[in-house]
Amino acid sequence: MLNLKTPEALKEFVQDPYPALSFLRKERMVKSPNGEWLIARDADVDFVLRDPRFGKQPLPGTEHRLPFYAQDYTERDSMLDIDPPNHTRIRSRFVKAFSARRIEGMRPSIESLVDSLLDTIIARGRMEAMREFARPIPSTIIADMLGVPEADRPRFNEVSMGLIEGLGVDPTTTLKERNARSQVLRTEFSDYLSALFEHKRTSPQDDLISALLHRNEAEEALTEEELIINILLLFVAGHETTVNLIGNSIVALARHPDQLQKLRETPALMPKAVDEFLRYDSSVQQLPRVAQADVEFAGHTILAGEMVILLLGSANRDEAVYQDPDILDIERRIKRVKSFGGGAHYCLGAQLAKIETEIALHKLIARVPTFSIENLDSLNYPFNLFFRGPERLDMTWRV
Ligand code: HEM
Repeated sequence: MLNLKTPEALKEFVQDPYPALSFLRKERMVKSPNGEWLIARDADVDFVLRDPRFGKQPLPGTEHRLPFYAQDYTERDSMLDIDPPNHTRIRSRFVKAFSARRIEGMRPSIESLVDSLLDTIIARGRMEAMREFARPIPSTIIADMLGVPEADRPRFNEVSMGLIEGLGVDPTTTLKERNARSQVLRTEFSDYLSALFEHKRTSPQDDLISALLHRNEAEEALTEEELIINILLLFVAGHETTVNLIGNSIVALARHPDQLQKLRETPALMPKAVDEFLRYDSSVQQLPRVAQADVEFAGHTILAGEMVILLLGSANRDEAVYQDPDILDIERRIKRVKSFGGGAHYCLGAQLAKIETEIALHKLIARVPTFSIENLDSLNYPFNLFFRGPERLDMTWRV
């Protein structure tokens, strides 16, 4: 029986959730001690993601049905946290600005960023790959996309990284201290963006902010506040997720030298391989939804206001969809990996995250053909049920 009640059991689950998730798939759906419904199979996860009876926000009057940690809800209003029609209105403006053409156009700048990172490290023969390699990639690229001028980059990076770090759990500071610091940084970030909007309104360029500010007659303008909160979301939603995808992919390759060899011999396999890394060890493991009405499902009644947790890492290893799901196979045909969610909130940055990871791994393998991870047998996964990635990767190679 799955029991995550003790701290030891939870710690074990966070280090390797897959044996317990396999057990949950057999059960199909269980209610956790906190009162959330855990949904483990791929088809069921798909169903909830696409059914409008499951939304993001609590249902007024039923808050007592939520798990204790979600009852103290404070209004959040980035597109990630809201339901249609408001969600549709805001997201549609970003989808356009996030076009496939624009993302493809980012390739050269991602390549030169990864090369310059490796240039400064390679002669050393070692790096802590999470902090020195994976971490700088997504935030620099988002700043590029937005069109943040070079001269503003050092301070802009400090502020955005500070905001991202504020979301983590730093044991040397209290929650109150972290919140106070985040508030100061948020104000600086907002003031900076407001000034940048002013500049891009008068001299637009080929960047995301100019595209968001420029609209056709038919398009509704977003308020300055909506723009700021959703631009901040791009940093938050796109950072830890991509850093961890790069980290999890490096771990998967280090543990499967035969697959690494295949990639070295046939670099064209990289896009398929990244899909497999996403499936095999997803950097986002869970998504919450709140039932907006009573729903009969899998022989149970989910009451209006109850929370369901979609176990993406489990859906990705569902034996009903994937043969030998616990085996890493970079040539596997992947139909519908769940790591980017699905339905109305499907990840806006999926294509960008995939391209960043493809380029990062491609350049790493090309420039460091053989490497080892010193702490491969003692990796630590920080305590987080939603995000998954190793705390550090001590990588070495011969120079
Ligand atoms: C490996 C990397 C990434 C993973 C695994 C990932 C995963 C996800 C998932 C699962 C969702 C759906 C959330 C839900 O349904 O509740 C989501 C939404 C979102 N992601 Fe990503 N993401 C990644 C990278 C990025 C990047 C690079 C960006 C942008 C720069 C981004 C921007 C967003 C945004 C804006 C949303 C909200 C979309 C909406 O609510 O309509 N993500 N992401």
